[in-house]
Amino acid sequence: MSSAGKRISIVGFGLMGSQIAQIFATIGYTVSAYDVSNEKLDSGLSLIRSGKYGLENSVAKGRMSAEQASKVLDNIETTASLNYALADAEVVLEAAVEDLETKRKILKSASESAPKDAILATNTSTLSISKISGGLSQDVRRRVAGMHFFNPPQVMKLVEIVASDVTSREVTDKLRQIALDLKKVPIVVKDHPGFVANRIGIAVFAEASDLLAKGVSTVRDIDLAMRLGYGYPLGPFELGDLVGLDSRLRNMETLYGETHDEKFKPPELLARLVASGYLGDPRTKEGSKGGYYEYFGEKRPTEETVA
Ligand code: 3HC
Repeated sequence: MSSAGKRISIVGFGLMGSQIAQIFATIGYTVSAYDVSNEKLDSGLSLIRSGKYGLENSVAKGRMSAEQASKVLDNIETTASLNYALADAEVVLEAAVEDLETKRKILKSASESAPKDAILATNTSTLSISKISGGLSQDVRRRVAGMHFFNPPQVMKLVEIVASDVTSREVTDKLRQIALDLKKVPIVVKDHPGFVANRIGIAVFAEASDLLAKGVSTVRDIDLAMRLGYGYPLGPFELGDLVGLDSRLRNMETLYGETHDEKFKPPELLARLVASGYLGDPRTKEGSKGGYYEYFGEKRPTEETVA
């Protein structure tokens, strides 16, 4: 279905924000994308153009014509002015860094500068929707919900729609419909730490980290166990490298802070890797020294034929 004429503001044009912008622009939305600097905006655009799931590959694979790809790019306007990005939005999707204060500030600006009936959605992966919207009036909070995409959003079908206690049914219904327009499969879940998918996914990563710390097995072999024994497309470490170790660490810190459950306590090695610049797979994570695989000098199972 065409969504021509519909407008979305995407606040935060990093790994997730830019790829999410691509999928909205692909179905005809006009996207106004904000980030703090032109460098960040340019690097988001280059991911959309030339990233693994970007437009050039889609044209090369015959998923779209060169003309369609250029229309997708035309549908995306980038700006380093937040107020400009927010004006006229029907939906604001916050996809900034996973930090509560940053997200609260963005939502506050959105409540002031976006149209008064705009949906204010956040792509947070673990932070509480109630806390993010906590400083806003009750009327605005009804318009706030989670819309959580999975990486890479061009491919992953799931979208978690997260409703706080006050999110209106109209808002979750609209977000469900938008997810369906994007050809995704929405599930509506409660505002519970980690929601559903990350709560389970991070528990698997935590268990894998514990086995690694105890010396039971290696990074590669633990990943192979889950790939070949459980049919996971990626093992927990390769997936951690893909989503970014800094994100994984923040997710665990949030989950641990919210639940006080020892199983979510960030593994010592993860904290050490992030502190020393190992932020994930250097092919997708800008400025990273590497991920678990570079640190241990092993080859990712997906780079070899192990199927
Ligand atoms: N649009 C639509 N589909 C696209 C696409 C695009 N722009 N680009 C690629 N695809 C699809 C196509 O079906 C394509 O198949 P084709 O090449 O035969 O046409 C397929 O993706 C190809 O991609 P790959 O060559 O990369 O295929 P892989 O077999 O390596 O699969 C993967 C890639 C699906 C991403 C797989 O590795 C996977 O499932 N990985 C796990 C990802 C995951 O678990 N993500 C969740 C992370 S947790 C998270 O995001 C939470 C957050 O809060 C941090």
